[in-house]
Amino acid sequence: MKTTEKKSKKETDKKADKKITKKGAIKAKSDAAKGLNDLFEDSLKDIYWAEKALTKALPKMAKNASHKDLIDSLNSHLTETEEQIKRLEKVFELIGKKATAKKCDAMAGLIEEGKSIMEETELGNVRDAGIIAASQKIEHYEIATYGTLRQFAETLGFAEVATLLEQTLEEEKGADIKLTEVAVDAINEKAAEVE
Ligand SMILES: [Fe+2]
Ligand SMILES: [Fe+2]
Repeated sequence: MKTTEKKSKKETDKKADKKITKKGAIKAKSDAAKGLNDLFEDSLKDIYWAEKALTKALPKMAKNASHKDLIDSLNSHLTETEEQIKRLEKVFELIGKKATAKKCDAMAGLIEEGKSIMEETELGNVRDAGIIAASQKIEHYEIATYGTLRQFAETLGFAEVATLLEQTLEEEKGADIKLTEVAVDAINEKAAEVE
């Protein structure tokens, strides 16, 4: 019985190692992630780039915002973002890898969209509403990313890393809630009054 179990496990391992081919599927690059660990590291590099890009984008958005509550929430999230970068550096350290940033196309696109919204709106309540919309898309992207990364870390058995990522995840959720509050309490209705 034991021999059969052993044999079938061997067969399963063989199957897992075998490259899967599928018609119409995108061909993987030579350096493609082989396991969850690789995918985890790649995603960390992406979000590290994204957070760094945000330390440049957030002050620009704050400069374009008019309502004090919005300016305050952007500035306080900038401070959090700087801490999040340090936290990611700690994560890299814990998994024994050098902190490396790899361009995150999604975040680059979201930041670009924020820029377009600012160009397409007059300063004041309407631009404020646009800045909130763009910022919330950014926060939602970060929430999705950190939620996934935390889960990956748990699966991979990186308990301390998972705790650090959870901390950032909660900050991103908090930033999103704050933006909704500012929009509802202070900006959207006034923006709607503009002819
Ligand atoms: Fe962040
Ligand atoms: Fe954020």
